[in-house]
Amino acid sequence: MSRLKGKIAFVTGAGGGIGRAICERFLFEGARVVATDIDVGAASAAVTGGGDRALALPVDAGDGEQVREAMARAVETFGALNVLCNVAGGSSMQDDRVTEAPEEEFWRVIRLDLFGTFLACKYGIPELVKAGGGSVVNLTSIGAIIALPNWDCYTAAKGGVAALTRSMAAGYSADNVRVNAIAPGVILTPRVAARERIGRVKELADRHMLGLGVPEDVAHMAVYLASDEARIVTGQVLSVDSGVSIN
Ligand SMILES: NC(=O)c1ccc[n+]([C@@H]2O[C@H](COP(=O)([O-])OP(=O)(O)OC[C@H]3O[C@@H](n4cnc5c(N)ncnc54)[C@H](O)[C@@H]3O)[C@@H](O)[C@H]2O)c1
Repeated sequence: MSRLKGKIAFVTGAGGGIGRAICERFLFEGARVVATDIDVGAASAAVTGGGDRALALPVDAGDGEQVREAMARAVETFGALNVLCNVAGGSSMQDDRVTEAPEEEFWRVIRLDLFGTFLACKYGIPELVKAGGGSVVNLTSIGAIIALPNWDCYTAAKGGVAALTRSMAAGYSADNVRVNAIAPGVILTPRVAARERIGRVKELADRHMLGLGVPEDVAHMAVYLASDEARIVTGQVLSVDSGVSIN
């Protein structure tokens, strides 16, 4: 109930399946939560019941000015920032092999998943440093670890997130800022559940040894990485994937 007591967390993509579970779990563990999403209604719903420990803001994670302003608003409201959780992102059924994938899909996912993570870190890490250190939790994917044929835009973006996680972990260790990423397998959010039985997703889903994940499985890992329990864990890409990456 109090693993994150005293922590102030900034979450992007807070209104989606995984983002919402993370916000709920962070609040449950005593954190104050700034829930941001391009859909502010969804972000607000994610922190319902958070009372004065919650703030919901409309933010396009791929827009530097909006991200910078939201960080300032978060600090103005709660006084500091200790945790950045970069969740905004996700593949789409437009993705494909490079020879077939639309260029727009490549730039969409690079802007949201990779540049969005870059921006939140660019404007958020200085606040973590001011607070004496903190934890960055990025969302990558098993697509950064194993081959996911026909998802070439998404794997490029998430591979970038994994590499960025490692270089930032080394770059900010002297500031006591830890940087890790979670690599989920197929997690049954509403977006993914809608396509779970479709061809290429089904083949991957069937290789999950312990069944498919739910958003709370990812949220539990996010709590651990955000908490002081993980105080010497940094630069890691931690799979929450039902063993699919070794199967
Ligand atoms: N669900 C899975 O199977 C799975 C697997 C591996 C990795 N992931 C990663 O986990 C993260 C969350 O996935 P999810 O399934 O919960 O996705 P989701 O689609 O349920 O949620 C994504 C959220 O991001 C928001 N969003 C979209 N564009 C935005 C923008 N420009 N700025 C800010 N917010 C924006 C949406 O409004 C939505 O609330 C993503 O980074 C995804 O790549 C998910």
